[in-house]
Amino acid sequence: MAKGTDTSFGAPKGTRDILPPESWVWQEVVGYAMDSFALAGYAPIETPMFEHTEVFERGVGSTSEVVGKQMYTFDDRGDRSLTLRPEGTAPVVRAVLEHNLHRGALPVKLSYEGPMFRQERPQKGRYRQFYQLGIEAIGSDHPAVDAEVIEIAIRFYAGIGLDTSLKINSIGHVDESCRLGYAKVLVGFLRDHTAELAAEDRERIDTNPMRTFDSKEKRTQEVMRAAPLITDHLCDSCRDHYASVKGHLDAVGITCEEEPRLVRGLDYYTRTAFEFVAGGLGSQDAVGGGGRYDGLAEVLGGPHLPGIGFALGLDRIMLSLGERQAATPGPVVAYIVALGDAAERRAFPLATSLRAAGIGAEFDVMGRGMKGQMKDADRSGARYAVIIGDEELATGEATVKDLTSGDQERCPLDRLEERLKR
Ligand code: HAM
Repeated sequence: MAKGTDTSFGAPKGTRDILPPESWVWQEVVGYAMDSFALAGYAPIETPMFEHTEVFERGVGSTSEVVGKQMYTFDDRGDRSLTLRPEGTAPVVRAVLEHNLHRGALPVKLSYEGPMFRQERPQKGRYRQFYQLGIEAIGSDHPAVDAEVIEIAIRFYAGIGLDTSLKINSIGHVDESCRLGYAKVLVGFLRDHTAELAAEDRERIDTNPMRTFDSKEKRTQEVMRAAPLITDHLCDSCRDHYASVKGHLDAVGITCEEEPRLVRGLDYYTRTAFEFVAGGLGSQDAVGGGGRYDGLAEVLGGPHLPGIGFALGLDRIMLSLGERQAATPGPVVAYIVALGDAAERRAFPLATSLRAAGIGAEFDVMGRGMKGQMKDADRSGARYAVIIGDEELATGEATVKDLTSGDQERCPLDRLEERLKR
């Protein structure tokens, strides 16, 4: 159960602890993401970790695998059915409707980050508690919003140095002239090929035929190569919308791979659907995904309120960053090396005043000697060792040693902040 030898408990299957030094990078990536989203006017929102189960059953949809097989659902002591959020979009739309945010200026633009929960089979890049960074723009069906949302994700990935490719599709809207009409054509095709499909995919014909495109079964994939495509069956308005989204993307130099077999796993999607894929991750290579959900607000009891957004998988992003993670230093700039009783007493006040000036500082609390403290200074990731001993204290100075270059110089204590900031 536990990997270590000194504890009898391990984290539950499919969960993990994010430990230093990875947690430094983690925090930096989250901060950078939220700042990037804010640059386009997306304001942070926090919603509860759990919701009434119905929010997901209705919002995400009962034919989705997430709702059908993966939710952590439980009755609380008041016999209410609650579910740990498996995703963030339905909760955000629920919150918008509950607080009437849609009665103010539209679109409502919100960002979020935090854990989501799905009981999936754990593997590399797939966890039962995983973390998403997301945005939602609610109240506009303008194709420029679709392009804006996609551009924000791409700029974020580029900013953290991650190469991704964009796959895009339009899955139309729920109408006989569009997706419902297409679904009939697709069901007809699937019935003609029932015998060739894998058994579990046969069941999908009646419940969620488009998900057949996502089958992991080789024989089904073979059949789907010849299947009719949604893009050939879009109604005029969805076709125009899709063309316009691609035009807006082109205007900002974004190239996308059109993928007419891309269908997303959640039932609320309409029109634009997209995914971001990164290399080196094996089968779990989608580092983010999103799309339009023009019917979601109505399904949750609100007015017609078109929306679009994405969620990026932070765990997979961190895996993709891989080796580059370790290079990021923590925030400690100075490690105070104190020699002798008088200096030891000065170490804590000195660290405190540096911290108050915004300079990260640590000092020894294990009674180490000079060598031990220098070693601990390296461990701390500090750029400088600030050495104080009897001699330094007598002259009101410290020796500042640059731990990268090895250079050292004396510095008056009252100019230490200035020196370290430099
Ligand atoms: P999703 O495609 O289900 O979409 O998840 C988005 C991203 O979360 C995935 O691309 C992946 O990176 C990450 N992810 C999903 N499941 C796991 C898992 N078990 N372990 C690790 N990472 C995972 C949504 O959740 C939608 N709410 C996105 C959205 C926002 N659509 C519109 N607005």
